[in-house]
Amino acid sequence: MQIDMIKHMERIARKDPSIISLGQGIPAGGADKCIHDSVVAAMRQENVDQYSDPQGIVLLRSTIAQATANEGMTYTEDETIVTSGAIEAINVALHFAVTNLRKKVIIPTPTYSAYFNAVSLSGGVVSELACVPSSEWDIDLGQLESLTDESTAAVLLSNPNNPTGTCYSRQTLEAIAEIAQKAGALVIVDEVYRHMLYDTKYYSLAESRQYKKDILRVTSFSKDFNMTGWRVGYIQADSSRVDALLKVHDTLVNCTSVVSQYAGVAALEKQHEIVKTNLAVLRHKRKMMSGYLGTLSSVISYQLPSAGYFFFVNLHGRSDKKVADDLLKRGVVVVPGSAFGAAGAGYLRLCFGREYTAIEIGMKKIVEYFRETA
Ligand SMILES: Cc1ncc(COP(=O)(O)O)c(C=O)c1O
Repeated sequence: MQIDMIKHMERIARKDPSIISLGQGIPAGGADKCIHDSVVAAMRQENVDQYSDPQGIVLLRSTIAQATANEGMTYTEDETIVTSGAIEAINVALHFAVTNLRKKVIIPTPTYSAYFNAVSLSGGVVSELACVPSSEWDIDLGQLESLTDESTAAVLLSNPNNPTGTCYSRQTLEAIAEIAQKAGALVIVDEVYRHMLYDTKYYSLAESRQYKKDILRVTSFSKDFNMTGWRVGYIQADSSRVDALLKVHDTLVNCTSVVSQYAGVAALEKQHEIVKTNLAVLRHKRKMMSGYLGTLSSVISYQLPSAGYFFFVNLHGRSDKKVADDLLKRGVVVVPGSAFGAAGAGYLRLCFGREYTAIEIGMKKIVEYFRETA
């Protein structure tokens, strides 16, 4: 197993301050001051020095249950497990699916690169369902049906998708759930970008209650609240699944950092305000990056993402690894599309959630590179 390509590229950037990174999805700036203030207060008033219940503090789980109910999903605090970021929740879900069910995990690609190692770690086997840009990277249900069989443990979805920004329709999601249910498999839905939406509607499969037993819903505080360093997220599932999931979570981390759990409570209390402010900034940055990319229309192409904070750029036949290497030599880190699965080969992922200066300097270098090598 190799370290995930996104982190590999970001580590290169971290070692040399002159390198600009448009690589890892790290939202610029820090968490809202109210989150820091309430953590300081919690450190004085609450017991943050000792383990919490492995499932998470009741205050956070009940706040999460309320926030998810406001979005049309019904998970009680007892159906919510607080995890160390979404990535731990994904590992918990996969471990549960692979050890209790079967081995095959179907992943529509391109998708979040860290899924591949997570499946291997759980003892599972990845089966890639390659999506194509001509259908806006939507999932081919016929293909999904033919891949799904008695060896399938789960379908793992990033919705909205990282790196393409695609949001799957209710129809597609429910058809996926039907296919999985028929085979006795689960659907693991990772929704870390569900609030980063630009002029598009979002439907969560978790709103379709008839599939609740077979859905494991994962999300995080990292992206919405600029809290990637706090390592707090959660998994939600039907009550019949919780004990088994909790055993995996307890085995991996015992409980999520308690001080981070209090940060999560503060974040959710100001969720609407924080998400709205962040979204306005992201919308502006999306326009800015698109402005630079638009000057290169004779050599590359891209779709304006309707969700998330990535551009997934078509290199028109060039090797993504070579272009990423060339750009690194010019001091810019980007992620080669093949990191997101075979279907991503020939693409580059650029993050527009990064600092304004990084976008400005990085994009100037990228434009210069493509002009010189056209
Ligand atoms: C689709 C997706 N899922 C999960 C994660 C990990 O999130 P967390 O920081 O909550 O572990 C990321 C991070 O980039 C992501 O893009």
